[in-house]
Amino acid sequence: FQLKEHNTFGISAFAKAYIPAVTLQQLKEAVSYYQEEDLFILGGGSNMLLINDVERPVLHVLLKGIEILDNNQGKVRLKVMAGENWHDLVMYCIQNNFAGIENLALIPGNAGTSPIQNIGAYGVELKDTFHSCEVIEVATGKEETLTKADCNFGYRDSIFKNVAAGKYIITSITLELTDLNKTSDYKLKTNYGAIQEEMDQLPGENSISKVAQAVVNIRTNKLPDPKVIGNSGSFFKNPIISRTSYNDLIRMHPQMPCYEVDAESVKVPAGWLIDKSGFKGKRYGDAGVHDRQALVLVNHGKATGKEILEVAKKIQEAVQLRFGISIETEVNLIEN
Ligand code: EPU
Repeated sequence: FQLKEHNTFGISAFAKAYIPAVTLQQLKEAVSYYQEEDLFILGGGSNMLLINDVERPVLHVLLKGIEILDNNQGKVRLKVMAGENWHDLVMYCIQNNFAGIENLALIPGNAGTSPIQNIGAYGVELKDTFHSCEVIEVATGKEETLTKADCNFGYRDSIFKNVAAGKYIITSITLELTDLNKTSDYKLKTNYGAIQEEMDQLPGENSISKVAQAVVNIRTNKLPDPKVIGNSGSFFKNPIISRTSYNDLIRMHPQMPCYEVDAESVKVPAGWLIDKSGFKGKRYGDAGVHDRQALVLVNHGKATGKEILEVAKKIQEAVQLRFGISIETEVNLIEN
């Protein structure tokens, strides 16, 4: 089964089998049927690099539906099935006047995979509105509910990336949002980067819809559209370094931007490090670096996963040599 249409990098790779799961029943049946084999769980395919063919059956989570669980005192709890497209969910919330995820407009991928790396952008992370999620334990087929605390969210991180990697299939997420039909007690988050400036260019009163529009404008301006040019968004995480290392570096590179983390550490934008290492817009065959955002690796057409990975390694080595900082991939590397 060809996976090219199922990964936003547009990498051609074959899977042993393809099982679409539209209902919870189908999903459970697949889990029990394939128990002995390691299943590969596919959501929106927006945060992975297929390095080789996938020697496992691919289980595509396509569960759909959005349900309002309860709504009181200005808060609304929304249960969203895993196969719902994330950006469509953001738009649904804006149409219904539910606030909380408008800064996360246009992030590719599905609702069900959003907790895995605790998606975030423009000053907001999934964990800010996340309430819980329902999962199926692969080994037993048992249904469970995980709370926000269970998920142990961090910067682009959760249990689903480390201690519980491969253990669960997320079937739905529940968010707790502010219902602006019932309360006006909500503060728009507009102090990150150029959001406010972008909003000032737009007509009308400030609103969640205007925030989302500003984010959409900023993102379309500097991030490549995967439908046009294959990519998985930020390929690397922004490295967190100690203040001591930061103080040494800033002496040599006074222009280096940084984000505050805590008293001991700061986060440095990987895009800046890669740009300064000379990679912005570079191309090696069909594998390359985006020309407006060095953090994003791109497939200009027929690049293989291995070719993209080669570029990533070149970048990691160059950044290590020039700045002494090791940058980790944010995208999941799928070896087999
Ligand atoms: N920069 C450069 N050259 C570049 C890219 C960036 O000099 O080629 C500089 C910028 O001028 C800016 C700084 O680096 O001073 C930070 O860049 P930017 O504001 O573009 O954000 P980022 O740190 O690169 C992060 C997230 C994005 C998210 C934006 C907005 C990570 C790894 N990335 O990017 O997330 O959209 O902030 O919040 O944390 C994603 O995860 O796929 C993603 C796109």
